[in-house]
Amino acid sequence: MKWLILALALVAPSQAGLRFGCSTLSIQRIDPLVEPGSVPSAHVHQIVGGNAFNVTMTGDIGTKGSCTTCFFSEDFSNYWTAVLYFKARNGTYKRVPIYDNAQLEGDVSGGMTVYYTQVDFNTNGKDKITAFKPGFRMTVGSPTINSKNKAVAGLRYTCLQTKLTRFPETVEFPTQPCPAGIMAEHHFPACWDGKNLDSPNHQDHMYDTAKDSGFAPAGPCPASHPIRMPQLAYETLWDTRQFNDKSLWPTDGSQPFVWSTGDGEGYSTHADYVFGWKGDSLQKAMDSTCMFDACGNGKPLQSQSVAQMNACSVKSSVNEPIEGWLDALPGKQSMHKQKREFNA
Ligand SMILES: *[C@@H]1O[C@H](CO)[C@@H](O)[C@H](O)[C@H]1NC(C)=O
Ligand SMILES: *[C@@H]1O[C@H](CO)[C@@H](O)[C@H](O)[C@H]1NC(C)=O
Repeated sequence: MKWLILALALVAPSQAGLRFGCSTLSIQRIDPLVEPGSVPSAHVHQIVGGNAFNVTMTGDIGTKGSCTTCFFSEDFSNYWTAVLYFKARNGTYKRVPIYDNAQLEGDVSGGMTVYYTQVDFNTNGKDKITAFKPGFRMTVGSPTINSKNKAVAGLRYTCLQTKLTRFPETVEFPTQPCPAGIMAEHHFPACWDGKNLDSPNHQDHMYDTAKDSGFAPAGPCPASHPIRMPQLAYETLWDTRQFNDKSLWPTDGSQPFVWSTGDGEGYSTHADYVFGWKGDSLQKAMDSTCMFDACGNGKPLQSQSVAQMNACSVKSSVNEPIEGWLDALPGKQSMHKQKREFNA
């Protein structure tokens, strides 16, 4: 009887969730998860989180590094996505700036909003939510997916009428100018096999029970992946305002934005995660009943000022231009150069 009471106590309903800003740590062409050791990697990424980030990082990065760009100062994880570029009529590219979420701490420089929620925003569904372990890493989506494949659940776009717009979501880039920019959303799978910190394709150790929109209540974890972990999600606000004049858009009526992978449809959207919370801090937050910023100031998490977040950064390992008008996406050949080589 005693164990039954204990078991019930462990799975009592509770509500807890983290939503916080992380400013930009670095924008550069490396990918320690998919292309470890390669400088440069195939395409440009925007990275937030702890400054132990480097192209060969391994092990418990929560014990390494000296600063983090995230609001919760025990979070030395790294979070990254591809970068959005605008393609002009003359074929040159310019990086789209990132701006901060209006609901956050205020004046966060670039970066993204990170969520760790339970079964949904309101409840753990009476499941124990088990924090990720040191060395844990995963990806969601893939640079090789296109419109001929099925869109991945939870990878979506929102055309922002204002910074607070949240619906509708689309699987492709918005087809019309979005007055307050484009929000890219990345929801990760939340069921773990309980054994592997990673897998060869960085995805098989996890299972996604989300149906469509990533913040909808999750279904039960399957026997193959029985451990419910936090629902991790990123939101990045791409500030397209300087590119919204239709006279700058392609004459064929298509939309002008491309991921740094070269994808102009939006299906190749993907994201990477390397866990790096210090000690049991993330588990403490998941076991608590705090919501969002109220989890800071030691209740139960340590937090820091926006000035401290914005002061943390990592230098690029790659010496190449990624800003201003570029003839080609970094790592891709320009059309002019391809033509010259073809004619030679
Ligand atoms: C990268 O990080 C690893 C630890 O994750 C460390 O051993 C290595 O020295 C770092 N490399 C550089 C170039 O800083
Ligand atoms: C290409 O187009 C952009 C946007 O219209 C413009 O700012 C840039 O100067 C152009 N570059 C060249 C080489 O014409």
